[in-house]
Amino acid sequence: MFAVYAAAPNADAPLDSLTMGERPEPEAPEGWVAVTVTAASLNMHDLWTLRGVGIKPDQFPMILGCDGAGTLDDGTEVVLHSVIGDPSWAGDETLDPGRTLLTEKHQGTFAEKVIVPARNAVPKPDGLCAAQAAVMGTAWLTAYRMLFVKSGLRPGQTMLVQGASGGVSTALVQLGHAAGIRVWVTGRTAEKRALAEKLGAHAVFPSGERLPGKVDAVFETVGEATWSHSMRALKPGGIIVVSGSTSGPNPIADLQRLFFLQLRVVGSTMGTRDELADLLSFVATAGIHPEIGLELPMERAEEGFRAMLDGNTAGKIVFTQ
Ligand SMILES: NC(=O)c1ccc[n+]([C@@H]2O[C@H](COP(=O)([O-])OP(=O)(O)OC[C@H]3O[C@@H](n4cnc5c(N)ncnc54)[C@H](OP(=O)(O)O)[C@@H]3O)[C@@H](O)[C@H]2O)c1
Repeated sequence: MFAVYAAAPNADAPLDSLTMGERPEPEAPEGWVAVTVTAASLNMHDLWTLRGVGIKPDQFPMILGCDGAGTLDDGTEVVLHSVIGDPSWAGDETLDPGRTLLTEKHQGTFAEKVIVPARNAVPKPDGLCAAQAAVMGTAWLTAYRMLFVKSGLRPGQTMLVQGASGGVSTALVQLGHAAGIRVWVTGRTAEKRALAEKLGAHAVFPSGERLPGKVDAVFETVGEATWSHSMRALKPGGIIVVSGSTSGPNPIADLQRLFFLQLRVVGSTMGTRDELADLLSFVATAGIHPEIGLELPMERAEEGFRAMLDGNTAGKIVFTQ
């Protein structure tokens, strides 16, 4: 079958390892299902995989794509939950020490077919098209958990999202707006800030600019480049929820500010199957239209990878077939 895959790890030139071609069609073992992929979205995780981060060298070649939407053999339309855990694990799947994401151990979704445990295929709500359904399983699920499970924010409070145009950032803006939270966003260009405003941000600022007031929570995926700004942005007792470190993983902690203002820094990763079902329900009932910045046929996936590598995002990048 046709697939988009990482041939080998390449830390310095990740796109040199990006390969399009034939891969063996997977067969579902007992308890797993085969899903014919209709759409799948690009995540920064796919660039990390091409670089060899978070994946063992002996796992290559690896079909890329952590999330997606498709149909089961009986025609049921599904959204994929990409956290694959130990079947004996009970409780929050994101805390299972043996869990992996699609593309870390099991082949990903940038292909005609993917196999997943049956419980990882979640029924798709009617209101979402395939491209919008495809973005739910990684970026949107991560944003949902950061906002509604980890931050403790209430409607009427103020959140700051670092980064305007990325997959997780745009999801945070749309979810926060729909939940009645005042949404402030930093973005690197006027165009990216305008996108955040279009998606419901109440105020936008150039990256690093002094804010007109303090916020209750900051949502971080950028890391080193924005961390000090995030620490300075918080009210006493405020919280930073962090799920990524795109610009570098070792920010200066600013420890005096941390203890003196009694700030909290909380990690968040992906979300549970139940949270994915709740996210799908929220998006459907609130009438949210997830922002798709670029939709391409899977054969043209390289254009999407290059856009993300160059920072040219405007919402999620989706590949369809
Ligand atoms: N833990 C998890 O479960 C999980 C899940 C999903 C993603 N992540 C992580 O979250 C991060 C974002 O992923 P994504 O898929 O949303 O990526 P993406 O779509 O490429 O978005 C990247 C975002 O980072 C911002 N950014 C990058 N470099 C920056 C810099 N130097 N200064 C300011 N802003 C910068 C961009 O802001 P502009 O809009 O201003 O350009 C953009 O909003 C990645 O590190 C990824 O690995 C983690």
